[in-house]
Amino acid sequence: MIFRDLFTSRRPGFHVAPLDGDHAAAASAIHSASFARRWGTLELERMIATETSHTDGIFIGGDKKLAGFALSRLVAGEAEILTLAVEPATRGQGAGRALLSTHLENLSRAGARVVFLEVDEGNESALALYSRAGFAEIGRRPGYYTKPDGTVATAITMRATLD
Ligand SMILES: CC(C)(COP(=O)(O)OP(=O)(O)OC[C@H]1O[C@@H](n2cnc3c(N)ncnc32)[C@H](O)[C@@H]1OP(=O)(O)O)[C@@H](O)C(=O)NCCC(=O)NCCS
Repeated sequence: MIFRDLFTSRRPGFHVAPLDGDHAAAASAIHSASFARRWGTLELERMIATETSHTDGIFIGGDKKLAGFALSRLVAGEAEILTLAVEPATRGQGAGRALLSTHLENLSRAGARVVFLEVDEGNESALALYSRAGFAEIGRRPGYYTKPDGTVATAITMRATLD
């Protein structure tokens, strides 16, 4: 599958590039704005630096402002997207699609043949994004997520094959 053919960003001026530890604070802020479970700057610094990690960021207007990032782990041809988030102000403009397509291309180039992820069954935008990228549901994990109000939610496990 050629992801660049499937995804065309609606907004020009996005630029996707690998992230290093210098962006950990900005990535942590985006993660905190996106998920109930915060990832601190040090935690993200460590995750980005891990040998099996692949982290891409999407920037607006050159390399200055980080607007989103995707972090995956790749071992023995199998990748798992651990997180993918776009800052709230930039959502709905094609950044998620552009980020995911380049991230999958980079994982493929690094040797990934299959990619897994987990997503909250109520997360419609993420489910639409991943389905359109070729991910299909392969299982469910009831009670996997605990929300800030203490209620739990089911995780959908998805898988995509990279040609
Ligand atoms: C999921 C997320 C990354 C999407 O980023 P985005 O920049 O808004 O995505 P895009 O603008 O590229 O839109 C991608 C697709 O998502 C879907 N989508 C976007 N916003 C949506 C919404 N509010 N409701 C339903 N679907 C939506 C659409 O199908 C869209 O494709 P289309 O416009 O061709 O129909 C972003 O909403 C986010 O960061 N959410 C919080 C973190 C998260 O849930 N991450 C994923 C779980 S790991």
